[in-house]
Amino acid sequence: MGELCGGEYLVIDKSVISEIKNSLNIVDVIGEVVPLQKAGRNYLGNCPFHKEKTPSFNVVEDKQFYHCFGCGKSGDVFKFIEEFRNVTFAESVNILGERLGLAPLVQTNSSPSQHHSPHQSLYQINQEAAKFYHAVLMTTKIGEEAKQYLYQRGIDDELIRHFNLGLAPDESDFLYQAMAKKFDEDAIAQSGLFTLSDNNRVYDSFRNRIMFPLKDDRGRGIGFSGRIWTEADVANQQAKYKNTRATVIFNKSYELYHLDGAKAVAAKEHELFLMEGFMDVIAAYRSGIENAVASMGTALTPEHVQHLKRFTKKVILTYDGDNAGQNAIAKSLDLLKDFQTEIVQIPNQMDPDEFLQKNSPEELAKLLKESRISDVEFWIQYLKPANTDNLQAEIAFVEQIAPIVASAQSITAQNTYITKIAELLPDFDYFQVEQAVNSVRVRTRTQVQQQPSQRATIVELPMAKRLTALVKAENQLLHRLLHFPYLLQEYRNREEFRFETQTLQTLYALLCQNGELTSIDLNHLDEATQQAYYQVLEENLPDEIAEGELQEIEARRDRFLEEQDLRKQSQLIRDSSNQGDVDSAVAALEALIAQKRRME
Ligand code: UTP
Ligand code: MN
Repeated sequence: MGELCGGEYLVIDKSVISEIKNSLNIVDVIGEVVPLQKAGRNYLGNCPFHKEKTPSFNVVEDKQFYHCFGCGKSGDVFKFIEEFRNVTFAESVNILGERLGLAPLVQTNSSPSQHHSPHQSLYQINQEAAKFYHAVLMTTKIGEEAKQYLYQRGIDDELIRHFNLGLAPDESDFLYQAMAKKFDEDAIAQSGLFTLSDNNRVYDSFRNRIMFPLKDDRGRGIGFSGRIWTEADVANQQAKYKNTRATVIFNKSYELYHLDGAKAVAAKEHELFLMEGFMDVIAAYRSGIENAVASMGTALTPEHVQHLKRFTKKVILTYDGDNAGQNAIAKSLDLLKDFQTEIVQIPNQMDPDEFLQKNSPEELAKLLKESRISDVEFWIQYLKPANTDNLQAEIAFVEQIAPIVASAQSITAQNTYITKIAELLPDFDYFQVEQAVNSVRVRTRTQVQQQPSQRATIVELPMAKRLTALVKAENQLLHRLLHFPYLLQEYRNREEFRFETQTLQTLYALLCQNGELTSIDLNHLDEATQQAYYQVLEENLPDEIAEGELQEIEARRDRFLEEQDLRKQSQLIRDSSNQGDVDSAVAALEALIAQKRRME
């Protein structure tokens, strides 16, 4: 049985996972690293995933999961190890298996049995090539010249060594001659480091370039990017950077430069800088900031985003200060919806490397740490009309920005943004902007499922309670379906049945398909759905199902849905009559009356 899991092949029986889980007590595992106090039936401690002074991290022993009321994180024992140690699910299985005295159960990339990887020789050839290029840079005459180029860009020998920079000489098959002795034809052909000509001659893909070795998040060599450096090549308008072509181990839409070096610091600092270029990452490193990565010649992709999720919850976008950079930020923010985001503003259209050419490392560090704006502030700047005398443009802007403001976490922050927007627009005052934001607040709150950590901000909204009523009912229903197989069987037979709450429907569909939800199943789901699962577990229901309980839950749920429908229809009537569409208003009113009768 093989299963793809977070990029690794997971060859392990689900029953082994359950076995491990049942043999361990989550309180012991977490208690080793987080001091816990018994509090009622649960254990309480300071959350290891966010900074706090009063404990809100809760470990529920009888259900074997944790939940933080502060940051909203929850999970089982595997998830805890994953998050706490910043490892994959497979590695968490090994780590916990080892506690029980089991040999490594799952092949992971970092386990010592690396030679089993079918691509081992490809990693090796990249590693060897990196050594080779580095030696050319450090020991040859032409290397000396290339080093002058690097020195003049502020990169000294120590940095050259740290980033293992190299030089591809300007010769047709220098690397090939060296590698052909050590690697077989397959590895040579698949490495992406060589090209085959029509007459079957092998050439080096990189010539006359400064070489940046590319590594995966475990530090294994997967390819290169080469930069031109001679004046002749600049004059010839050669592509500035050239990457290894796509190979089985290198996908530039997934990999991020320096992620292997950045991940540990990112875990500690709870944030990661995302930059545009290799030189920017190196500049950040020179100013003491190690948690920076860059995409490589592509804009940020959904694959990158997926990859980043394993390492951080907060991304600091540090793109060039020019127009292209601003457009790239807008695109990236759309992709990074599940992350906290901030934007570093670099003055005078510079990139971080250029900034460092003109300023000290301390000044760059200060810029990266202190010169940040929130995503909402970015959108205000980015979307605001060039000409604020144009009323149409002002209105369009307010419509665009209102939902963005409404999505900000705190009401205080929202109010600050509203003030800012009103100041920008000659024809809007605070209350008019606030009204626009308010109308979206109500609309979206009815759709979004609330996490406990966000509850504080919504209490004053009239829809909040009704919304919770639906989710509450559906949570209880799913709780019962999770624990009573015979019930699940019954609901499965009701083909038309589905949950209204999207995350719960996802869980339900998976439950129907597999008959249970294991740690492996959960691991495949997005964060929101995983959190929804633990919210379901948190429902405190009696062990036994009371008579008529399910009917009562469903009735509660149906009543909510009908009321929601009524609200929609009333809105329709109001809209139609506001627009003077009497026929539609009357028709909608009749439908409304009919439905109310049915409900009585
Ligand atoms: P830039 O053109 O902004 O280069 O491209 P840069 O980072 O400032 O590079 P230096 O400072 O001149 O050395 C940003 C990134 O886009 C990719 C590279 O990853 C580069 O770091 N790129 C750029 C390419 O892949 N190919 C190119 O021809 C140019
Ligand atoms: Mn640059």
